[in-house]
Amino acid sequence: MKILGISAHYHDSAAALVIDGVPVFAVQEERLSRSKGDAAFPLAAIESCLEHGGLQPEELDAVVFYERPMLKFDRILTCALRAFPRSWRAFPKAMKNSLGEKVWMRGIISSHLGVPGRKILFTEHHQAHAAAAFLTAPTRRAAILTADGVGEWATLAIGRGERHAGGATTIDMLREIRFPHSLGMLYSTFTAYLGFAVNEGEYKVMGLASYGQPSMAAEVRRLIRRTADGAFTLDLDYFEFHTTAERSYSSRFVELFGPPRNPYQPIDLETAEGRRFADCAASVQRVLEDTLVDIARTLRQETGFPDLCLGGGVALNGVANARILAESGFERVFVPPAPGDAGCALGCALYADRIHFGNPDRDVPDHPFWGPAVDGRELAQVAGEDGQPMEEIEDGVLIEQTADDLAAGLVIGWMDGAMEFGPRALGHRSILAAPHSAGMRDRLNRDIKYREEFRPFAPVIPIEMASRYFDLPPGGARLARFMSGVFPVKPEWRSRLAAVTHVDGTARVQTLERDMAPRLYALLEAYGQRSGVPVLLNTSFNVAGEPLVNRAVEGYSTFRRCGIDVLVAGQTRVMKCASQQARLKEEAQCSRNAAGSSAG
Ligand SMILES: [Fe+2]
Repeated sequence: MKILGISAHYHDSAAALVIDGVPVFAVQEERLSRSKGDAAFPLAAIESCLEHGGLQPEELDAVVFYERPMLKFDRILTCALRAFPRSWRAFPKAMKNSLGEKVWMRGIISSHLGVPGRKILFTEHHQAHAAAAFLTAPTRRAAILTADGVGEWATLAIGRGERHAGGATTIDMLREIRFPHSLGMLYSTFTAYLGFAVNEGEYKVMGLASYGQPSMAAEVRRLIRRTADGAFTLDLDYFEFHTTAERSYSSRFVELFGPPRNPYQPIDLETAEGRRFADCAASVQRVLEDTLVDIARTLRQETGFPDLCLGGGVALNGVANARILAESGFERVFVPPAPGDAGCALGCALYADRIHFGNPDRDVPDHPFWGPAVDGRELAQVAGEDGQPMEEIEDGVLIEQTADDLAAGLVIGWMDGAMEFGPRALGHRSILAAPHSAGMRDRLNRDIKYREEFRPFAPVIPIEMASRYFDLPPGGARLARFMSGVFPVKPEWRSRLAAVTHVDGTARVQTLERDMAPRLYALLEAYGQRSGVPVLLNTSFNVAGEPLVNRAVEGYSTFRRCGIDVLVAGQTRVMKCASQQARLKEEAQCSRNAAGSSAG
């Protein structure tokens, strides 16, 4: 059975193809359109899925959309009516932003793909999140917890899933919390208040939190009240996201926490104002964690299951995930590589396969590499046409050479095989560097990623060696498989892993099994032989404002524009010469000076 899943029209659209119960391809639209967070109907992603599967649209058995547009319409209309007349200006905008074409989704899918309306199915948004989390995890029975900003009405849902080998699958959602009461919206409100872009800047809040103290946690708790049944409600006097598209927090919120941050002013932690913002971030982070831990603990007791599958955008919060693992009583916590809305494309297709059609259970391969494959020959051709020195080398030699480069302090653009599905680079579209010095972190922030210094870089390490360098609780190595947990770096290693150790002594470590990315694993071993420490800094292969690179030509373009020294794609290796590096540095300095003088 051939099933296409689609998520679209909110942020980060995606498409996924499932054949005979197993994913064969999945990609976010942004990676193909090159527009970060592209929310458009994912035509390029769909085309890519069909091409990869060698299918014509009419050969699909079903096309599944990741939420029920009419339910979402109902929520927006209901909220607008409740808030009238305050909402009268927001309503058309909300309709346009959140719905637009969505209500007519069956017709749109049918006309774009030429498939009959009867083949088009819908799942609920949190069913898609739940399926993306549970059906991709190597477990047969698990509790399920999904949390995000909002889908149709649900913002948090709990349930349980069971898979019977070769037989039926059940996913029962037990309870849900409904809009406007939302942990995701609480966090996003602070994201906006702290001057970051909502839906993109949440991880910056998490990074900033490490610099602060949760000294305002009591104030945050006035915004979110726990209810007797273990759920919560937001005190809506502090929020405006449910009534207007202009601002997510109210004047009472500002009275409580002080003036919001001007997004154009850098955060200076030397000032009282800067520390207040860091404390705000730490406080909302603490309350989010406490709330999730409580809900997860209750779910553990209720289901009796030792495994928990986490889904929804909130599951990108690695600090909260690590606390859930440590404190809720679950023995294993699984977070898929794409827990957010893009992952719903895969989730809704799997849900349709197992639940709607009742197809027999299948194991889903336990990796994130469902995207287009990189072609080293394409890199050779582009670099050749550009007159750039390059070579095509046999793999064993290439790994040794790259390990030498890393040991010499060079920064490597590393492209290998099929692209990651989801927001994290997990070894196929990564920038790699030596993890030892703070100077390397600063260099990457300054010359390559062009981003705020309070955002940490992540380390990658062979799974067998992880507990030597990182304090992983039982189940921690699994949570770290897709970089879904933040754990302490052992104190004695912090100074030697300075580029990947956050200010609070933690790291968002990736534990790598050889089978998942054999070439990166071999590179870690080769680097370990040289440095004595088999750890590399692994950050996503992109510059600020751009999506992860997909094809070799995009990797090459990024390589030419920023301070990456060596680019590897497949068997092809391209090296930047010293004069090009010097010129790039000069240009970067000029643009910094220009930015400095225009700001002054
Ligand atoms: Fe969602």
